Amino acid sequence: MHHPQNTTIIGLQWGDEGKGKMVDHLAEHADIIVRFQGGHNAGHTLVVEGVTYKLNLLPSGIVRPDKKTALGHGVVLDLWALEKEMETLSTAGITITPERFMIAENASLIMPWHRVQDQNRERGLGDNKIGTTGRGIGPAYEDRVGRRAFRAGDLLDPQALNARLQGVADQVDDFCAFAEDMMRFSRTLAPHIVPLWQVLAQSQRRGETILFEGAQGFYLDVDFGTYPFVTSSNTLASQAATGTGLPAAAVGHVLGVVKAYTTRVGSGPFPTELSDTTGEHLGAKGHEFGTVTGRKRRCGWLDGVLLKQACTINGIQALALTKLDVLDELPAIKVAVAYQKAGVTYTHLPLHWRDFSDVSVVYDTLPGWQSITAGLQDYDALPDNAKAYIAYIERLSGVPITCISTGPRREDTIVR
Ligand code: IMP
Repeated sequence: MHHPQNTTIIGLQWGDEGKGKMVDHLAEHADIIVRFQGGHNAGHTLVVEGVTYKLNLLPSGIVRPDKKTALGHGVVLDLWALEKEMETLSTAGITITPERFMIAENASLIMPWHRVQDQNRERGLGDNKIGTTGRGIGPAYEDRVGRRAFRAGDLLDPQALNARLQGVADQVDDFCAFAEDMMRFSRTLAPHIVPLWQVLAQSQRRGETILFEGAQGFYLDVDFGTYPFVTSSNTLASQAATGTGLPAAAVGHVLGVVKAYTTRVGSGPFPTELSDTTGEHLGAKGHEFGTVTGRKRRCGWLDGVLLKQACTINGIQALALTKLDVLDELPAIKVAVAYQKAGVTYTHLPLHWRDFSDVSVVYDTLPGWQSITAGLQDYDALPDNAKAYIAYIERLSGVPITCISTGPRREDTIVR
């Protein structure tokens, strides 16, 4: 089957790269925007015509009235969170019809007890906690591979669902309220639940294009990230196919989003982390607080070792560089090119996090530009040192930077 040019967009760091804005930007040229992993642990902020939208679960394209959106089966779905998000958007005047928002029938559900399990486990880990968002993401994925999950399609048969709910009565505090909620979801959400693989395959045959919207970031991938300080899904680009039921070739053009510096929320190793005034400056100027948990994000320099590896594993064809303007005041900018520990030099992510924490980092240092790039929309208007930083990242990663974000608004974007 021939695939029209789809695009897959993923974050190449630990999330919060500014994907939401890039997805919004690209959504203009796609017919359907699809999420393929993660759940409402994601936080996407969009600023459209002065209105700020914060989305956790619904694909970013939902704010564009002429676009279709979908949640693939790779997503874990909290129906309470979904209901709330749909209500918030409706109040803001956004219409969400079944035609415009589809849910894969085989997507696993996050149940109330998953959240409790998530939070209890974190408490149990004490100082070794992962720093999860506490939303039940991990336990929901565990139940999926454990073959005991409730799935979206179960809502389509309320009688069978009701019978099955009796079996989990001891898992919730207020069973009546819980069962009532589930029956309501089965009424309100049923029209949205479809065999998504089939709907998407048909739409591809009609020549419609898909934008696959990644959540979290590559180094939170359960297999390739900084395990065990990761999320419980695959965040890599090929998951766009695996998490939706489309053939591998449907992944299409793979765009990686990389922030001009690095942030991380939650625990886990972070070699280029800055615990000095420069780190504070990045956090304050970049408004680095989690959209989901409100936690302060840890900040540091761009990590070229990780960037290169991410580009290789994901087959990144183009990069979008975000938040360049946050670096405007800095006199010098550093980028990690290797790590050293116990006489060993690493130019890739070591397998074990113990080998990856307390490494000494080998940096390249580039001159800052110390002038304003915020809001620029034209590449030629960038200061020479900012252009040199961009060219440096392209050389290092071997991937062209085709898009540069210079501010939170839709129009604060340079396209090359
Ligand atoms: P979980 O996904 O809630 O299980 O959390 C696991 C790890 O992923 C924690 O370090 C979280 O802070 C991190 N995480 C999950 N979702 C996001 C996200 O959308 N952005 C940034 N970090 C995330």
